Amino acid sequence: MTEEELKEMVLSNGTIPRHIAIIMDGNGRWAELRNKPRVFGHQHGMHAVRAVVEGCRELGCEALTLYAFSEENWKRPRGEISVLMKLLRNYIRRERENLRENGIRLQCLGRLEKIDPAPRKALEEACLYTADQTDMVLNLAISYGSRSEIVDATRSLCREAAAGRLEAEDIDEETISNALYTAGLPDPDLLIRTSGEMRISNFLLWQIAYTEIYITAVLWPDFAKKNLFEAVVDFQKRDRRFGRVKSKS
Ligand code: FPP
Repeated sequence: MTEEELKEMVLSNGTIPRHIAIIMDGNGRWAELRNKPRVFGHQHGMHAVRAVVEGCRELGCEALTLYAFSEENWKRPRGEISVLMKLLRNYIRRERENLRENGIRLQCLGRLEKIDPAPRKALEEACLYTADQTDMVLNLAISYGSRSEIVDATRSLCREAAAGRLEAEDIDEETISNALYTAGLPDPDLLIRTSGEMRISNFLLWQIAYTEIYITAVLWPDFAKKNLFEAVVDFQKRDRRFGRVKSKS
């Protein structure tokens, strides 16, 4: 099936995921298969980033969250980290106008204070530049770890309690959701991981409690809009019960 046919199928099937989250994996292996350095894979991964942003916007998704750089990724060689930061900065520089024109609000999730001033400034400015857009949210998870996110949320709730603005008994699931970096967004309906790895890798642990998971062997630099639409077609076949029994038709 062509990309257009798949898109038509997705749109006519009905349920479009409100929020898609993606673990972009396999850049290094993609480069190794071509006898190139790992960073070559990251560079090519940028095509896939553009394709999924465009694809999600075409489908009318409310949010797309991309795992761009984990807290654990700080342990990678300095050269690789610096290429990844440069790619992020270039992406922001080149795409911020395009994001705004397409109604997309950019948001960064993670401990941004660890990022060097130049890429951090570029990210913060692009978030401000697109802050009034309302058609879709693009979350870039950078210097992100889900356990750290939960730690940060817990600290902010403790501060509220210490200041007398919050009672322990008033804390419920919504209170916690609203204290996370993803506050205000629906939980992901679909989580895609490329390169065949069967792991969550400290990504959105709280938010994916009822998310449908789709794992593909495709390596991230090869992931095209067509692959995104295939994942959504698969998602549309799932029977989501959220712990209840199957509803009778
Ligand atoms: C995982 O592949 C990929 C990453 C750690 C980085 C993903 C980043 C990009 C695609 C570029 C920047 C992104 C944006 C949104 C502007 P890996 O290196 O772990 O691959 P491997 O498992 O094959 O070694």
